[in-house]
Parts: sequence; C-alpha cells; structure tokens
Amino acid sequence: MARRRIIAGNWKMNKTPSEAVALCNELKDLVKNDAVDVVYCVPAIDIVPVVEAVKGTNVHVGAENFYIVDNGAFTGEISAPMLKDAGVEYIIIGHSERRDIFGENDILINQKVKKAFASGLTPILCCGESLALRKADTYKEWIERQITWDLDGVTADQVKKLVIAYEPIWAIGTGETATADQAEEVCGLIRSLIAKLYDQATADEVRIQYGGSMNAGNAAELLSKPNIDGGLIGGASLKPDFGKIVNA
Ligand code: 13P
Repeated sequence: MARRRIIAGNWKMNKTPSEAVALCNELKDLVKNDAVDVVYCVPAIDIVPVVEAVKGTNVHVGAENFYIVDNGAFTGEISAPMLKDAGVEYIIIGHSERRDIFGENDILINQKVKKAFASGLTPILCCGESLALRKADTYKEWIERQITWDLDGVTADQVKKLVIAYEPIWAIGTGETATADQAEEVCGLIRSLIAKLYDQATADEVRIQYGGSMNAGNAAELLSKPNIDGGLIGGASLKPDFGKIVNA
C-alpha cells in the first residue's frame, strides 16, 4: 500500500521566537509539496508564533517534548492539552537526546505514547542504537526491545497512525549518515516487528522515518527505499536545504 511521505524537522534547542518566524517565512515556498506531510517540531516557546506563521500553508506543527499529566504542580513542564490547544499535531517521543541527556526510560516513553494518542497528538516515536551496539552487532535486538516496550498496551488502530523514526545515535549530528541499505535494513526490521506484534495490515500502514545527518544530498536515495517513508531531520531542517529534502 502507498504510505504518505512524512518529512519532519526537529529544530531541537535552536531558534528564538523571532528567528523561528523568520525561518518559517524563508522556507514557506521551498517546502510546498501536496504529496508530502511536512512538519516542523519546534521548541515550546516557538509553538505559538510558528503556528501563526504557517497558517494557510501545508506545514504542520509538532512539539519536541511534553509531560504525561494534564495540569498541576510540575514546574517547568508542558502538557498535551496545552500543545493541542496551541495547534500542535505531532509530538516527538523517545528521542535519544531525551533518553541519554534527560534520563527518559522506556516506561516513561510508553506512557507518553499512550498519553499522546489519548490527547489527539500523533507521536513520532524515536528509536536507535549507539555506536557500541552497532559495533557489537546487537543493534537489531536493541531496536526490537525499545519498540516492544514503547508500544506496550498501544492498540493496532493507534499504531496505524503512529510515526516511528529510526535514528542511529552514531549518525545524529555527526555528518556520518547510515547508508541507505543500513537504514532500510532496520526500517524493514521495525515493520516486520509491527507485523509480529500486531498484524500485516498495521505494519503496512505505520510510517517509518530515517533520521541522522539526512540532507539535501542523501535524502533521495534514503527515501527511495521501500520501508523508508520519510525523514526526521535535525541540522538540515534549519536551512533552505530542508525544501530540497521535502521535494527529494
Ligand atoms: P541531524 O539531522 O542533525 O543529524 O539530527 C537528526 C535528529 O536527531 C533528528 O531528530
């Protein structure tokens, strides 16, 4: 079945609100493509101005983080209803930077996936192995374990709407991209795992992205692979190059 391509930028901790609006205006004409879902996942403080700046365009807005409770005494956190009310549609969950720098584990990540669906947000669930696991040739088991834990109790109907991003940690921000064959191997493995955990129809619908030093030069080859339905892009999402990835 034909899955709709999804190209998402992960702006990480970049762009002040006024810089964010300027970037939206700079990219506006470059990211036009009716055949692709285009998403900007932006810092919390940029969400309101970015939602306003992309009004009337094909761009959807995502957030980079949230907490699993709707409101209350959680200093510094932001909730799913807040994001939803501001116009957010997608939410990145389980990024390796949140796992490794902020200590998020698969129990919390699983709670976040369920809470996102319950709140009407579409999760972009990230997984990926370290260089040590890649070298030890245990990366397949690692990815299967992450996905199995993160999707515990998530229904097939929800998984059909889910986006999974395979982001090998050794390829993030390093300029060292996984080869198209390496990326396809793991994206195919993830799809097979979804078929095993759920069924083939669910596996055929779930969208799987590659992320890690994806750029205007390597996007077309990565996106030509049968199990790669899109990209989650860091550095190159902050530049006009992002338009070339959308239209690769
Ligand atoms: P880079 O594209 O900068 O390697 O970042 C990838 C990433 O972490 C996207 O979530």
